[in-house]
Amino acid sequence: MGRKSGICLMMILFLGLSGCSNRVIDGQQVNKEEKIVIKFSHVVEENTPKGLAAIRFAQLIEERSRGSIEVQVFPNSQLFKDGEEFEALSRGDVQMIAPATSKMSQLFPQWQIWDLPYLFSDLESVHQIMDGPLGKTLLEQLEEKNMRGLAMWDNGFKHLTNNIHPIIKLSDLKGLRFRVMSPGILQEQFLNFGANATILPFNDVYEALREGSVEGQENTVSNIYTKKFSEVQKYLTLSQHGFMGYAVIVNADFWDQLPSQARELIEKTMSEVTLWERETAKELDQEQLEEIKKAKVINIYSLTPQEKMIWRKDFSSVYTKFEKENGSEFLNEVKKWSEEME
Ligand code: LMR
Repeated sequence: MGRKSGICLMMILFLGLSGCSNRVIDGQQVNKEEKIVIKFSHVVEENTPKGLAAIRFAQLIEERSRGSIEVQVFPNSQLFKDGEEFEALSRGDVQMIAPATSKMSQLFPQWQIWDLPYLFSDLESVHQIMDGPLGKTLLEQLEEKNMRGLAMWDNGFKHLTNNIHPIIKLSDLKGLRFRVMSPGILQEQFLNFGANATILPFNDVYEALREGSVEGQENTVSNIYTKKFSEVQKYLTLSQHGFMGYAVIVNADFWDQLPSQARELIEKTMSEVTLWERETAKELDQEQLEEIKKAKVINIYSLTPQEKMIWRKDFSSVYTKFEKENGSEFLNEVKKWSEEME
């Protein structure tokens, strides 16, 4: 029996969906060769929205498939750094990844929509786009590169940290060296104000900040807290200037050869975990900010609503860059959808 038909038979048996058999086999009995293994690689710590959701997804799938599908989670760039993940997925070295939305934009420039500073005022407008037709359009683009998008997850809004001085106005960025995730919009945010913006993989950021090759970075509370950036940074500006979420992606060839029952189970579980992940992201964002405050190792400045409005206006050239490269139609549609939320 070939591998695919073996897997099909096994799925039919354990899910009892065939109509010709309702026998449910014990996970222990699953032949190792027939087991579906999904290696899920990511770059953050476990105690983060993505880290915890990956574990939860793995547990639920294991339970619900009675051990016939095993999701092996590799956090913290254990297997691949960002930058290497896409290739690893396309080679089939891993079957699932969840890169930051900003990293998606290297392959799909329209994904930079998530990077536009102050485009989304709250998580509700983010979800409105993610779960609506525009989010669907973005996920469908993945097919061009033989990938399939299963979900979009949250991390949260980004803030700025640095080692030199408090950042209250965008002109305070001048002369500083920042780490960014990707080229394009993210780099433009800094270059525009006379700062330097170097692209580095997430796993290298702590060391680069510590030894001073970069002086600052932008990230969510969760990443700042779990990667201990506050230990090697003096100033945190709570700016909420940009959103960072994730695309949960599988290799399309791998996906297509799965039995339909396995795909259904994965999709259903992923939708459930996505709701849980978004709630968890919101909670962790608050809890971990409290922990950073409690530790008193970094000076914190929180931008006022008026200051945020000024930053938004000062960032207008970043929007012009996006429109020049991606046309204004997509941006206008996103604005229309998120304004409907307000
Ligand atoms: C970063 O590189 O700063 C983040 O994208 C890491 C992550 O996956 O949250």
